[in-house]
Amino acid sequence: MQKRKLTRRELLATTSAATLGIMADWSVKPFSISGNDQGKLAILGGEPVRKADWPSWPVWDPSAEEEVLKMLRSGKWWRGSGDYVAEFEKQYAELIGTRRCLATASGTTALLVSLHVLGIDAGDEVLVSPFTFIATYNVIFMSKALPVFVDTDPETFLIDPEKIEERITDRTTAILPVHIYGLPVDMDRVNNIAGKHNLKVIEDACQAWLAEYRGKKTGTLGDLGCFSFQNSKHIPTGEGGAIVGNNDEIMDRCYSFHNCGRPFGSVKGNTPIPTRGSNRRMQQMQAIMLMSQMKRAKKDADTRLENATFLDGKLKEIPGIIPYKLADGATRSAYHMYPFRYKKEYYNNISREKFLQALNAEGVPGWSGYGPQNKYELVEEALDSKGYKRLFSEERLRRYREENNLPGNNQLCEEAVCFYQSMLLGTKNDMDDIVKAITKIYENRDQLSES
Ligand SMILES: Cc1ncc(COP(=O)(O)O)c(C=O)c1O
Repeated sequence: MQKRKLTRRELLATTSAATLGIMADWSVKPFSISGNDQGKLAILGGEPVRKADWPSWPVWDPSAEEEVLKMLRSGKWWRGSGDYVAEFEKQYAELIGTRRCLATASGTTALLVSLHVLGIDAGDEVLVSPFTFIATYNVIFMSKALPVFVDTDPETFLIDPEKIEERITDRTTAILPVHIYGLPVDMDRVNNIAGKHNLKVIEDACQAWLAEYRGKKTGTLGDLGCFSFQNSKHIPTGEGGAIVGNNDEIMDRCYSFHNCGRPFGSVKGNTPIPTRGSNRRMQQMQAIMLMSQMKRAKKDADTRLENATFLDGKLKEIPGIIPYKLADGATRSAYHMYPFRYKKEYYNNISREKFLQALNAEGVPGWSGYGPQNKYELVEEALDSKGYKRLFSEERLRRYREENNLPGNNQLCEEAVCFYQSMLLGTKNDMDDIVKAITKIYENRDQLSES
């Protein structure tokens, strides 16, 4: 690999703390705190940058309690006995901008239903990003198809559109792009490739409520879009999910499948017939909670965006901190996480884990994100199973193993750091604390050692 010449800032950054005095052009002001332990890192017993709590999550609005009690006392708890779930579906379709929405028991079940209804079958291959939550590719295994991991672009944290086409085989039937952390994938590139090779596109928008790509909401850009409303999510109800789409026949099939395969709507013409299916229904309670949670979603999204934009501007000035880059065409992220990359070479090669410990000690909790899941044991276990050996030739599985090395994803899994979405619901002072804590660690990096 060609070595890049370091800029002046980078050169300065890689020198010791003793040289900081000459960094006259560095825009992040040296951090100082009052007291006797000026600059002493909190992990070593110094005063932390911040002692206050961060905004907690989820938030419950008690005004919805009367409706919950009414429903509980009625004994009409499942979706077939009341209107709450259907009403939520109407409201969510309006919020996202699709003709139809089907509420499901979870985001995982939304993905499972979508894969089945779009015809993904045993022995098929589905292209998917490895930098994601485990459910994204486990549903492909559950469908007895092969999740073919496409490398990640470490700059965007997303599937690298350049790398998609080379992984297509005559068994490929779908692409499952993931808008991870709420960052929109370059969907024009994905859809163009899908169109050219006659593939279905199922968006995993389980972390991307109200994110936008070319001004359109994520989840509305492929054949079907899937969302999660699990406890940690921006519109939470403990467990819950949704599928959105514009094609009535496909959405009717989704309904039928999620309702044990009972006949529904236009499935197979004017006389609906039973289909293969399962029970993936949402309960009335979940829908009431969701309709209450939805009321704050837009305002929260604006607050996260405002704070993330502030962090974008500040963090990129700190040596060795590289905030995410939006993919081409992405117009708005949902910020389920605020992500950046940590370059340890600017911090005397202190590991990311140690950096996170130091950050945490300063009162700013961070997370390293996903590991290299394409290498997880469960993948090998599936390939080695009776079913997969029946479904795929020895030669195909050999090539799969050989190609399952993804340098971009490996790099990201070593460098990624992120802040949880509820931190972005804080004030400007809270965001300042994040900047101060990282700056303090950078400036005092010579105090850190791995032990
Ligand atoms: C990217 C992604 N996909 C799928 C899921 C699965 O959603 P659920 O937990 O609602 O089943 C999640 C949930 O965390 C997710 O983050």
